[in-house]
Amino acid sequence: MPAMSASLLHPPNGRCSADAPIGVFDSGVGGLSVLRAIRTTLPHEDLLYVADSGHIPYGEKPVDYIQQRSLAIARFLVGQGAKALVIACNTATAAAAALLRATFSTPIVAMEPAVKPAAGASKAAVVGVLATTGTLTSRNYADLVARFGQGVHMLAQECPGLAMQVEAGDLSGPATRALVERYTAPLLAAGADTLVLGCTHYPFLAPLIAEVVGPQVRLIDSGDAVARRLHGVLAVADLLATDSKAGQERFWSSGDVGTVQAVISRLWGAPVIVRSLPD
Ligand code: DGL
Repeated sequence: MPAMSASLLHPPNGRCSADAPIGVFDSGVGGLSVLRAIRTTLPHEDLLYVADSGHIPYGEKPVDYIQQRSLAIARFLVGQGAKALVIACNTATAAAAALLRATFSTPIVAMEPAVKPAAGASKAAVVGVLATTGTLTSRNYADLVARFGQGVHMLAQECPGLAMQVEAGDLSGPATRALVERYTAPLLAAGADTLVLGCTHYPFLAPLIAEVVGPQVRLIDSGDAVARRLHGVLAVADLLATDSKAGQERFWSSGDVGTVQAVISRLWGAPVIVRSLPD
């Protein structure tokens, strides 16, 4: 682990106040599916969002690369006064959640594919898990399946390129549909009646995936569960916003700011300003 200065272990101005913002990050725009759930569950919180679009995809990158990116982003968000961090990326969680928890005293909420609820929901006891290579080859994922996948045929499906379609704002075009068809076909052939959207980009493809797999197949993601967990963590730490005003969002990206701003505005459903993430 790289050497950390004491200022990284604690908020710059001592203990964070309940009215400090929450920091959320992903490799790109996918974490907006989690941000959306957080906004619904916690309407009064100020939210900071970092899209690491200049380094996407995380899914096929080495673990130490994702760790360095996650550390840099977490350091930035803590520097912005974040009272809690949300790793809105399954791949970054698998690679870096333990490292971030060992590095920062700030409460950290992380993602994992919704294997547990999917195992409970599947009548056929056949579940397909759509996620990145990094997530599906991780120790975290193996542990998750060992704990919650008992008695269920859990089919892991890596989806190279799929998150990048969302990143490009292509939610329903022919190239995206072709990838969805290719990745879901083996799962349907094996009898899966439940699919886990195990990458935070994929909920934006849920209408297309539902169209391709049909109404009898259930789609499950973890966004709402993470928002509920965040609510619980903040409540226990006495860090829920005290102000009853509507919370605000602020966005940064390490990618091309104009391009990312257009995609975020579309996915968020309102025009937003995206700033360049400092190096
Ligand atoms: N959104 C990320 C996740 O939840 C993956 C996208 C990527 O490959 O960077 O796993």
